Amino acid sequence: MAADGFQFPFTPEIQATTMPAWEKVKGHVTPMEWQVQAPLIAEINRLKREKNAVILAHNYMTPEIFHGVGDYVGDSLGLAKEAARSDAAVIVQAGVHFMAETSKILSPEKRVLIPDLRAGCSLASSITGADVRLIKQRYPGLPVVTYVNTTADVKAETDICCTSANAVQVVEEAARLWGVDRVILIPDEFLARNVARQTDIKIIAWQGRCEVHERFTAADILEMKAAWPDAQVLAHPECPAEVLEVADFAGSTAAMNDYVVKKQPKRVVLVTECSMAENVAAEAPNTEFLRPCNLCPHMKRISLENIYEALLHDRYEVTVDPVVGERARLAVQRMIDLPPPATPARYDLVKARHHVDVELI
Ligand code: 13P
Ligand code: SF4
Repeated sequence: MAADGFQFPFTPEIQATTMPAWEKVKGHVTPMEWQVQAPLIAEINRLKREKNAVILAHNYMTPEIFHGVGDYVGDSLGLAKEAARSDAAVIVQAGVHFMAETSKILSPEKRVLIPDLRAGCSLASSITGADVRLIKQRYPGLPVVTYVNTTADVKAETDICCTSANAVQVVEEAARLWGVDRVILIPDEFLARNVARQTDIKIIAWQGRCEVHERFTAADILEMKAAWPDAQVLAHPECPAEVLEVADFAGSTAAMNDYVVKKQPKRVVLVTECSMAENVAAEAPNTEFLRPCNLCPHMKRISLENIYEALLHDRYEVTVDPVVGERARLAVQRMIDLPPPATPARYDLVKARHHVDVELI
């Protein structure tokens, strides 16, 4: 389907300019689909130049977006850093709403667009700023560490943000700076449980869940391991702790990508959102991906068509109240200013202390 009912022709010139992207997506896109997608990609890339815009694309975007129009691709941490660094006038967030808000918080002078306002997140909608204010009353003096998968209102009540790539480091740093041995880590209960197993700091957690990762079970993974004993199992830390217990590796989407690209294992099970495997596959041609496939319905709201329309009509602009935005920015900036880990942070599954639990609010 062409955007705005307008069919862009698949000319030999467009075929040539989009060839590098085709080489990366051809395992997942049919030649017929490409005849519609390639002209749209060329048109999006032309509009980006015209409007001085960049597209920040999360690892869960479909391959034609990820490889065709993404200027910066990566995990939540990488995209946030890029939003702070970029000198473009416009940011189009090919991801979900909290990511676009984070970009706006870090770059309030830029126009930030999200192609579909309904691209939410079950974690972000699990908690409000008012909830965090109540939590702070209940636990005075303890630092509040908040996952970036939250609204600006929640970030504004936060001391320091974290992502799955740096959560252990942030929790330990917060405890050190506040001189305490307990930290509030909200809203992902499973991330909190997985972090608690990696540190001596006691964790107070909220019962938010990622609707994609909460569905994976240890039984599913054990079944896959039995069927493919030589496969490496990589899991995202938003999965239940029991899933990480039977995985070979756990880390953010960027850490999983890095693991596959560097090690090029023969077979891999990616316990995360579906598109991830399709995007990594382009960099690991000899790896076979076995997909326990769960789709994120929010990420999947973003398409080439609505990215094109976002650029064409300057929509949908994401705004953040400046006072809320400035308070939220401090929390995100504190995270960004942390020294980067030598390698993308991983969860040490061998040393994980399984007996350690969290205190649920
Ligand atoms: P990452 O920060 O690992 O990319 O995760 C973001 C996300 O939404 C995972 O569900
Ligand atoms: Fe939110 Fe989960 Fe979707 Fe990520 S995958 S955006 S955490 S619902």
